[in-house]
Amino acid sequence: MVCLGNICRSPIAEGVLQHLANKHNLNWTIESAGTNQFHIGEAPHKSSQKVCKENGIDISYQRARRFKKEDFVEYDLIFALATDVIDEMKTLTNAHFNETKVQLLLDVIYPGENKSVTDPWYGTEAGYYPVFEEIKKCCEAILTKYK
Ligand code: 4NP
Repeated sequence: MVCLGNICRSPIAEGVLQHLANKHNLNWTIESAGTNQFHIGEAPHKSSQKVCKENGIDISYQRARRFKKEDFVEYDLIFALATDVIDEMKTLTNAHFNETKVQLLLDVIYPGENKSVTDPWYGTEAGYYPVFEEIKKCCEAILTKYK
């Protein structure tokens, strides 16, 4: 799960999908990363932590890291939370970018519509709730599709 800062959107996606996978006894390793370096080593945004906690998911252990070319080797599937994230991933990894592994997260529920999860970083706490719900729908669809 990849977003820009790895503190708002992708930590929620990591937490929700790992939670669902664990619940269904699937041995899936879910991780998240960001394309920028501004928050490396930080815990998820307090509002991301809050909305997850209210839904029974602890993401406080997560620490932001930067997306790296080795992630294309390590992971089978890479979900980008937004279209600009895909652009940044290409810039970061150049020839190592593997488009066969990358898809937009919202493509799972809105195929071909090229939609992005709104970045709640610039708004208020209220903005994190619809973001959580949208990400949750996508993660449930991933579970159904790949389990
Ligand atoms: P995220 O939100 O990509 O959902 O983690 C952002 C958080 C921080 C920044 C950008 C987006 N930033 O530029 O610091």
